Amino acid sequence: MLAKVRILLGISGGIAAYKSAELTRLLIKAGAEVRVVMTEGAQAFITPLTFQALSGNPVHTHLLDPEAEAGMGHIELAKWADLIVIAPASADVMARLTAGMADDLLTTLCLATEAKVLLAPAMNQAMWRHPATQRNAQQLEAYGYQLLGPDQGEQACGDVGPGRMLEPEALAALIHQAAEEKNGLANIADQQVASLRGLLAGKTVTITAGPTREAVDPVRYISNHSSGKMGFALAEAALNAGAKVNLIAGPVQIKAPEGVDLIPVQSAREMLDASLSVIASTDIFIAAAAVADYRPASAADQKMKKQPGQNDLVLHLVQNPDIVATVAKHEERPFTVGFAAETQDVEAYAADKLVRKNLDMIIANDVSRTDIGFNSDQNAVTLLWQEDGALVSESPEQAAKQDLAQDLVRCIASRFHQEKH
Ligand code: C5P
Repeated sequence: MLAKVRILLGISGGIAAYKSAELTRLLIKAGAEVRVVMTEGAQAFITPLTFQALSGNPVHTHLLDPEAEAGMGHIELAKWADLIVIAPASADVMARLTAGMADDLLTTLCLATEAKVLLAPAMNQAMWRHPATQRNAQQLEAYGYQLLGPDQGEQACGDVGPGRMLEPEALAALIHQAAEEKNGLANIADQQVASLRGLLAGKTVTITAGPTREAVDPVRYISNHSSGKMGFALAEAALNAGAKVNLIAGPVQIKAPEGVDLIPVQSAREMLDASLSVIASTDIFIAAAAVADYRPASAADQKMKKQPGQNDLVLHLVQNPDIVATVAKHEERPFTVGFAAETQDVEAYAADKLVRKNLDMIIANDVSRTDIGFNSDQNAVTLLWQEDGALVSESPEQAAKQDLAQDLVRCIASRFHQEKH
């Protein structure tokens, strides 16, 4: 993924420095070459030895160290980097970079480099909100530096607000995108993917996809024709938007996008258990699976035999749990999105389902058309949600499921952020 990309990871002083150990591991795992530069403040939180072990390279700490300069000097280091990533970027480092100071190795490298510089701010919420820091952030963006985050939430000091450093997985995804952009956006499709950048950084999206299989006996089951393509395309779009993605998939013939956490399941009940097992860490839940409404009341232990003379066989079915409705009424309820596959009065039935299942959004599609929907590569949908008690709808153009998924993720992310989850 990041094969041979040379990343200079700058670490400044902040409690989030410990997360950069995991970030280093993720970057190395993705194939990057990583060299670490630590400020003096950073070394109060974590030792250079940790990063030396993780990166496989000596850690650079001093600007005027004759021994280090004899190895890879600071100008050489600045030229070596394809990308400079500062994570965490403290308020102090941001201020020094804004002023163009070169009073330690890290700031000197940023002045001397022609590589893109990415900053992951991490600080107390009041420090982040301070007009000085806000002005510095704006000025750094004007220099062409890219800010990754910060995230909102609980802080090490007990405060709640903006200023948390993004989680290592989210940072790794954004660094990956920056590396790809540096290599030039090959075509419009890449540009569309790039436009999703960071929309869901630091968020976890859980998606159900594909059909379920309900066992009749050890060799037979009841299922449907769902291909899983829509759910998998949504998973890929959510990944491109910087989210961590859990993909809970029934049996399908397609490959999961690289980077998702795939949870393979068979039956509706397994899909429900898997969904509930990740609900506490899920910010957005998208139910794209075609779940069997009914299952055999009991699956036979042995293969059922054909009985001579018995022309009819009655299977006793019982209703399966409704996964998306269960998630939507859970006390740790994430932002919940469902699908409504209908053959008539599509929007009316979908609107009814939106309310009945207590969803935040519903994606309605007409499955009576054979050119789109089930098992097809194309889809046309209408998104519905409620705003101030009124029903609102949006219909992206019919498109390949991959492109449509990007539109849907954009729309879902925008609603999600409006609702301030
Ligand atoms: O009620 P209906 O099956 O049409 O609802 C469709 C929506 O509900 C889809 O989002 C589907 O994934 C979800 N669903 C579910 N569990 C079920 C049935 C449907 O999560 N047992």
